[in-house]
Amino acid sequence: MKSFGFTNYGGPDVIQEFERDIPTPKTNQVLIKVAAFAINPYEGYLRQGQFSNGQPLTAPFYLGSDLVGQIVAVDPSVTDYQVGDWVINHRAKSGYSQYVTASTNKIMRRPLTLPVPIAASLPTTGIAAYNAWYHFANIKPTDQIAIIGVTGGVGSLLAQIALYNHQQVLGIANHRHEKVAHELGVQNFLAYDQLPSDTSWQHQQTVVFNTLLGGHDHGLANQLLAPKSQLICFNDNDIQLTAPAAEKITIHYRGAATDHETFEFWTKYLAERSLQIAIDQVRPATLANVRDAHASLTKPHFGKQVLTWAD
Ligand SMILES: NC(=O)c1ccc[n+]([C@@H]2O[C@H](COP(=O)([O-])OP(=O)(O)OC[C@H]3O[C@@H](n4cnc5c(N)ncnc54)[C@H](OP(=O)(O)O)[C@@H]3O)[C@@H](O)[C@H]2O)c1
Repeated sequence: MKSFGFTNYGGPDVIQEFERDIPTPKTNQVLIKVAAFAINPYEGYLRQGQFSNGQPLTAPFYLGSDLVGQIVAVDPSVTDYQVGDWVINHRAKSGYSQYVTASTNKIMRRPLTLPVPIAASLPTTGIAAYNAWYHFANIKPTDQIAIIGVTGGVGSLLAQIALYNHQQVLGIANHRHEKVAHELGVQNFLAYDQLPSDTSWQHQQTVVFNTLLGGHDHGLANQLLAPKSQLICFNDNDIQLTAPAAEKITIHYRGAATDHETFEFWTKYLAERSLQIAIDQVRPATLANVRDAHASLTKPHFGKQVLTWAD
């Protein structure tokens, strides 16, 4: 089978195609024939060596966290999934592959009404949004909630979780995405590149999620935050809060919910509602396309990059 990965850190061109054996499922594992995988900013950081922390990744490192596909084999210990089931998988590596083995606590069923590209895009963003809302922020019904980057991967899922919890949302994004924000159901919209001249919107928000790529906030967090508010961040950043008694919380995997808990939430959500995640391109999983999808991560972009394997 084919997998994409790298042996040296660097730009998108370090990504290579590897020929590997199809893995065999172990106890509590299934073998998935991957239909599609999605690209995350995190994988771009890994490729550049930004997360090695002095501990280099073992080469070759096979990339990929998020995928959707069909089960083609199960270990005899698995009783709740069977061959033919469509599943979504979250994993630490090796998702840009034609086949993967996965433990059953790392998969969820894909409702067949959920389009394959959206299913492939759900794991990392859905886990981050779920954790931010339910485990890191301390949300009260009276909170005023703003999401910076509301039409991005994490931001759009956070908005859908907020609406699911009957909270009003002030969505913030580039002015070009106002229509998409309203299609998500966001009630109020602020374009960070076309801010109103009056200042009545400032210092009103008690919980602000900053989901912009790389943690940039265009200087908005301090303009939005009210006293005793929370800023929830998805990347380390040097934002110094100016609102009195405001708290900055950066989400991380330690102390977060298990993938299993998160997938239980999204399974329940999908049984009740449809899900929207902006998709930029869906294209065949070739080396050129994977490199190009990685190159797009550092350019201004909108929507997920999804790569598909031929049947
Ligand atoms: N800590 C965690 O566990 C965790 C998990 C998932 C994600 N993250 C991080 O959260 C952030 C958002 O992830 P995501 O998947 O939602 O990202 P994304 O959808 O690719 O981007 C989010 C938003 O960033 C803006 N953007 C796009 N290209 C940009 C560029 N080149 N420079 C600056 N801003 C740009 C866009 O908003 P506008 O067009 O409105 O500007 C976009 O909607 C990333 O930095 C990611 O690494 C962290």
